[in-house]
Amino acid sequence: MRTALLSAAAGVGLCIAGTALTLAQSASQSQPGGASLRPVGSFSNITNQRDRSVALFNEMGKVLTHPRCMNCHPAADRPRQGDIRKLHEPLVVRGKDGHGAAGLHCSACHGKQNFDPARIPGDGHWALAPASMAWEGKAVAQICEQLKDQNRNGSRDLAALVRHVTTDTLVLWAWHPGRGREPAPGTAAEFGALMQAWADTGAACPAS
Ligand code: HEC
Ligand code: HEC
Repeated sequence: MRTALLSAAAGVGLCIAGTALTLAQSASQSQPGGASLRPVGSFSNITNQRDRSVALFNEMGKVLTHPRCMNCHPAADRPRQGDIRKLHEPLVVRGKDGHGAAGLHCSACHGKQNFDPARIPGDGHWALAPASMAWEGKAVAQICEQLKDQNRNGSRDLAALVRHVTTDTLVLWAWHPGRGREPAPGTAAEFGALMQAWADTGAACPAS
């Protein structure tokens, strides 16, 4: 895992054009259990632009509803753990800013990177998503409307949303989650390309 992390980091640093990044990411995709994503090109036969946009979002839904994302975007105050999405043990809560209650911050246990010997995932700013960004229990159509709503999504326009999912390390973590956890479907680059294509086709949402 650490090798994949380092090679991903090296990829980002060395190759802005993205070739090395894609290679590094397909390396982390090769972990067991990872499902795949349809490439953007495979949607080009849908001639109606709105239908194509909806189909692209439905494909993104495979990632958005995956435990790697959902565990941090829960309906209630408490994160969930693992591929079976059980309530976080020990009991921790979102707290004022997503970093946990005073006295039991996420960083008390979650380090700057995955700690595989104890299966504790990590990142430099490990935190729970705000309640306005809760996805758990929602249909993909509802998640879509919510993602576009600047009152709920952290005041992001579509370009900022794409930037967030392609650069935020918490999002990227989902494709190198450490020992014992299934990575999110496809690769981070494929997911980013789907979202960009969705934005470019008018960011239509599935009917709810
Ligand atoms: C007392 C230690 C401790 C604290 C504090 C803590 N965690 Fe955890 N957390 C863990 C451990 C241990 C695991 C791994 C459990 C496992 O899956 O085996 C974990 C796993 C998780 C996972 C599961 C990831 C996945 O997809 O499987 C999430 C999400 C998570 N923690 C979020 C948080 C957040 C957010 C906070 C702060 C609000 C927090 N944790 C605070 C110990 C802690
Ligand atoms: C460790 C916890 C964690 C994980 C894992 C995580 N997120 Fe988040 N997410 C957050 C936090 C915290 C925020 C709020 C950050 C901000 O607004 O700057 C957030 C915000 C977002 C936003 C901003 C807009 C909105 O309405 O939600 C998007 C998009 C997003 N996450 C996508 C994802 C995707 C896609 C995945 C999985 C591939 C994912 N996240 C996994 C913690 C997490």
